[in-house]
Amino acid sequence: MAPTISNEILLAATKEFATPLYVYDEERIRYQYATLSRAFNKLDVNIFYACKALSNINVLRIFQQLGAGIDCVSLNEVQFALRAGFDPAKIIFTPNSVSIEDYVEARSLQVNINIDNLHILKQFGELYGNTYPVVVRINPHILAGGNIKISTGHIDSKFGISIDQAEQILDIVTETGVVVKGLHLHTGSEIKEVEVFLNGLNLILELSKKFKDLDIIDLGGGFKVPYKPNETGVNIQELGTTLSEKITAFEASQHKKIQVWFEPGKYLVSEAGYFLTKATILKENPTRSFVGVDSGFNHLIRPMFYDAYHIIQNISNPNGALKTYNVVGNICETDTFAWDRELNEVRPGDILCFKNAGAYGFEMSSRFNSRVRPAEVLVNKNGIQLIRRRETLEDLLEGQVL
Ligand SMILES: Cc1ncc(COP(=O)(O)O)c(C=O)c1O
Repeated sequence: MAPTISNEILLAATKEFATPLYVYDEERIRYQYATLSRAFNKLDVNIFYACKALSNINVLRIFQQLGAGIDCVSLNEVQFALRAGFDPAKIIFTPNSVSIEDYVEARSLQVNINIDNLHILKQFGELYGNTYPVVVRINPHILAGGNIKISTGHIDSKFGISIDQAEQILDIVTETGVVVKGLHLHTGSEIKEVEVFLNGLNLILELSKKFKDLDIIDLGGGFKVPYKPNETGVNIQELGTTLSEKITAFEASQHKKIQVWFEPGKYLVSEAGYFLTKATILKENPTRSFVGVDSGFNHLIRPMFYDAYHIIQNISNPNGALKTYNVVGNICETDTFAWDRELNEVRPGDILCFKNAGAYGFEMSSRFNSRVRPAEVLVNKNGIQLIRRRETLEDLLEGQVL
């Protein structure tokens, strides 16, 4: 059984650290990593945690201790990773729409570099020739993912170099001597179908035959986790078996060994996270009952940005009669967390718990309406530990010319 945190512990955390509050379960993070590693244990596999999902350095340290790698989308994420103790060889820098200066700096930090643009590949090759092998991100023209905003491998996506431009990649290799050590794809987030991963793998394995120095296939992240009641996530065991068979057969046919890299974010941390808010007001109008909470899309934007569903539970009144509410925030926008949601009767002061809030929760938070960002705590065998304090008015003013 996957570990979860009890309501008693969640309530104790809100007593100690107040709301709104992000709570993360270390045991669950470790469990997710172990499950994923086991599913691919027939392969030479490296799991790079996509830290854009949740970049608190205390969480990064857990992955570092587990022996994971880390996938970083910005140079600041790379700096976090280095400070968390990751070896540069375990870091991959996968930016997009950044200029050559960022790649030059990444090279000076000796991390793995993933290039997703032909012009940058050429500039990089002209600068460094064959001295710094890189991974190249391919856009496979596969439309997949939970919704269009998180679908990154379709033909109109800004990400990656089109698979139709493979000859141009090869021309740059010939002209500049740049070494392509790996090919990468990430078709999107919240992908459940094993066939989507298999289609991507087939395309990339075929393409890899054209690169003589290549020994890495990076299949990105995007493993779906269940958000709604009775929903299922990707079947990670089936995925492991299917992809492993394909890769093992490829290795035998090509007489070479392949390292397989993955970069999951959500799968590793989403279900380990809980977002706790307090009911501030109740309001009945002629058509709706609202419950207002002491938070808004400044703290958890997924419902408003992606129409994402998060299970919400009234953990202060778990046996209360069921009533239907719109759960709304305190931001001066229509920041509705949930429409027509059945909850155990909510009273002002009750704690509402949003499940599955570990990934892209705190990480996408902002200071909109001059509200501070919440605290984050980590629950592990040592108890409940503060890993980021709540911001203050002074934090909001810091840096402004007063
Ligand atoms: C290149 C890349 N790798 C990995 C991820 C992680 O995706 P997920 O959190 O869905 O696993 C993302 C997400 O945006 C991404 O863009």
